[in-house]
Amino acid sequence: MRPLFRLLTYLGAYRRNLLLSIIFMLMATGTTLVQPRLVEWVIDFGVGGRDGRILWLGTLGLLGTATVGGLLHLASGILVSYSGQGMSYGIRNDVFRSILAFSFGNLDRHRTGELIVRSTSDVNTVQMFVRMGFMLMLQSLAMLVGSLILMFTMNPGLARIMLMIFAVTILLFFLLAAVIRPLIMRVRERLDEMNNALQENLAGAKLVRAFARQRHESNRFEARNRAYLEIALRAGYITALAFPFLFFLGQLALVAVTYYGGLTVIQQVDTPLTERLTLGQLVAFNEYAMLAMWPILALGMTLQFMARAAASATRIVEVLDESPDIAEPPRPQALADGDSSIEFRDVSFSFGHGEPALSDINLRIASGEVVGLIGRTGSGKSTLAALIPRFYDPGKGAVLIGGVDVKQVKLAELRQKIVLVLQESVLLSGSIRDNIAYGLRANNHDGQAALDTRLGRAAALARATEFIEAKSLGWNEPVGERGAGLSGGQRQRVAIARAIVRDPDILILDDVTSALDATTEREVVAGLQREMRGKTVIVISQKINTVRQANRILVMDDGRLVGAGTHDELLAGNQIYREIYQTQNTELRL
Ligand SMILES: Nc1ncnc2c1ncn2[C@@H]1O[C@H](COP(=O)(O)OP(=O)(O)OP(=O)(O)O)[C@@H](O)[C@H]1O
Ligand SMILES: [Mg+2]
Repeated sequence: MRPLFRLLTYLGAYRRNLLLSIIFMLMATGTTLVQPRLVEWVIDFGVGGRDGRILWLGTLGLLGTATVGGLLHLASGILVSYSGQGMSYGIRNDVFRSILAFSFGNLDRHRTGELIVRSTSDVNTVQMFVRMGFMLMLQSLAMLVGSLILMFTMNPGLARIMLMIFAVTILLFFLLAAVIRPLIMRVRERLDEMNNALQENLAGAKLVRAFARQRHESNRFEARNRAYLEIALRAGYITALAFPFLFFLGQLALVAVTYYGGLTVIQQVDTPLTERLTLGQLVAFNEYAMLAMWPILALGMTLQFMARAAASATRIVEVLDESPDIAEPPRPQALADGDSSIEFRDVSFSFGHGEPALSDINLRIASGEVVGLIGRTGSGKSTLAALIPRFYDPGKGAVLIGGVDVKQVKLAELRQKIVLVLQESVLLSGSIRDNIAYGLRANNHDGQAALDTRLGRAAALARATEFIEAKSLGWNEPVGERGAGLSGGQRQRVAIARAIVRDPDILILDDVTSALDATTEREVVAGLQREMRGKTVIVISQKINTVRQANRILVMDDGRLVGAGTHDELLAGNQIYREIYQTQNTELRL
């Protein structure tokens, strides 16, 4: 329940609206509560006293209260909906910010579909609770208490019977809510699983078709869909079973009023009008019994909304409270200007509790050095690279840039200095130009011309100019979702250009020339070596040809650094390097 209350504090910004809305709603409830008394007046004095004026006035009164009540409800509804939307807006922003703060490790633990549900559908559920749950609950309570008070003032004996019936009904509701709550939580979980299946399927839509796995995917989705259906049905059954039963209890109130009330009216025919239960009062009582029964049923509904909202709130608050694995240092140290050396001191690392992906790495790369990093697939190259801009923190040891532990540096500063071009080139929807300029701060450039020169130079270095200009819209050519519309090699070149534009002191290319032909690849690497003077560059690859030009090549195997040297040195003295070389050379000859 606590997460829900916490999210409701987002309403704080709209408290004036909300308060006004509550006041209007209570006033509207008041107009409803007055109506039975008006009817009583009309029956006892208008009809009973054969007074046409009272009949006429009473009817007018009913019309008036109905109209005013309706308008008040309308105003209240508009105001509460405004507050609820405002609350959702605030929550969605904060959830999004919280996700933005997630580190790579946090992201590894979540699935996209689940995060989408948490930041949209779950937020809607909480909002729905404000509108349908919270307000309805207040209204129901007001109606219930109001009717009971009015009943007690009219005839305490009869009112006590009502109170008992209501109390039992409400108790049953709470029991029901306790049963339904965990069920609703599971409904959400299943919905998550279904959404994940859907999201993954859409992300891999082309793969599914390429392997003609539609039937398999369809079965898989159907299984999740069915699991969701089953639990949703179970929750539905319980609600459906409970409702008629509770309705029946409510009807009992009516039965009691009719019998006892009727009996009292009959027995009191001879007592003076002021002391007896009149016919008008009996009718009024009847109406109050109905009025009170309605909120009891509504309370049941609001409890359901509350259970659902509480479950959703828990899931939202989990995201809000998830602290990133990579924390900003409390007392940040500045990076040394001009020193872009990289050092690994006794670094070991494993993902989760698995096998170590890196073991005892000791390494020094001098400022301005261009090194190659080679190793078989899965040897830990990407992992080693990921520790430098602190995508992950080492389990043991430390990574230092210019002599400063990366853990002591502000993340923004660290990632301004170091750009790691990820192995999988990620492009965003937008134009090619937008994608290449992505890393630039909006206020960071000195005029359009200077920016264009900068983008142009980066594209040239990445050997991207030619294909960009060949596009019909050139730099403005739109890039589809995840880079659709560009070839694999074009995507890689846009990613490289994007990194160069940022002008980092340390540039790490994680196998991002793999889709380029040998000539283009050589041009890109040589260009970088030439143009990025004074910058530290790490070129990662599985291919000898890519790293061959580097002054120093590091060799990795099974999470360890197993050699370093020039191509010739390694060929002469490093077993692993020689094996890689031989396989690639045989392939060439085949
Ligand atoms: N996010 C992750 N979570 C868990 N394990 C991971 C993760 N990323 C990599 N690994 C594991 O860590 C080990 C090293 O992977 P890494 O990606 O560093 O290899 P690599 O040398 O870059 O390989 P490749 O040449 O294929 O890119 C592998 O066993 C891999 O399965
Ligand atoms: Mg890799």
